[in-house]
Amino acid sequence: MKSVPKHVGIIMDGNGRWAEQRGKQRWQGHIAGAENIDNILYHAISLGVETLTVYALSLDNIEKRFDEEKQHLFRLFYSKLGYAKKKLNKEHIRLRFLGDLTKLPIHIQERADDVTLATSENNKGTLAIAMAYGGQNEIKRAVEKAYANSSDDFTKYLDSIDFPPLDLIIRTGVQDPTITRLSDFMLWQSAYAEIYSTPVYWPDFDCEEFNIAIHKFKESERKFGAVLAQRKDWGGF
Ligand code: IPE
Ligand code: IPE
Ligand code: MG
Repeated sequence: MKSVPKHVGIIMDGNGRWAEQRGKQRWQGHIAGAENIDNILYHAISLGVETLTVYALSLDNIEKRFDEEKQHLFRLFYSKLGYAKKKLNKEHIRLRFLGDLTKLPIHIQERADDVTLATSENNKGTLAIAMAYGGQNEIKRAVEKAYANSSDDFTKYLDSIDFPPLDLIIRTGVQDPTITRLSDFMLWQSAYAEIYSTPVYWPDFDCEEFNIAIHKFKESERKFGAVLAQRKDWGGF
């Protein structure tokens, strides 16, 4: 049996539709979605996943969503981060953030810095939250930093510099799973990631659903551009 993915990324989509389906407000979907992160995180770590990166808010979301929804999201982030330090320290999990956090209110930035520092020595796994994040923006910022430091290796300046490459990306809330998209999620790190997509909305994506994604990953044959075994019957040119 193949091993579990070391680094899993989740594009947590479908909170709004989950709420609308239940006659609730979109922000109630975001609350349910935020609660689900804990369940999946601890389950993933127990299976052997080392890094879980969750896409919580894109730069495009910040630019294009109504103020009311953004205010709800900011309040939710602030409140969740308030509990995070104690919970993650108990589980020995470190928390990291990816993205241009300067696009977020200052009190969220401060809380994010505080939890990052307080959990930095934990070694049972990493939860990375991509917020105010855009893959193109991450690359652009890294290139700018490399240029300022006269370095010819911009990858050293990516937010996720010390993370392994993405093995598996899960996208939830995909209407038709035969056609999916990354929505600007970890464009550099996803080079050879397997992509699993499901119509299940994020708040309904439970440990069983996660197991299905892991099972599919284990079944996939990863060649990274190579040929695994030469065909003996191939006569050549
Ligand atoms: C994903 O859920 C979470 C964020 C983008 C903040 P959506 O809010 O995109 O939910 P849908 O796609 O409208 O259902
Ligand atoms: C992607 O979801 C961003 C997050 C899950 C945070 P979106 O709902 O913003 O993506 P699109 O607009 O469907 O591509
Ligand atoms: Mg969406």
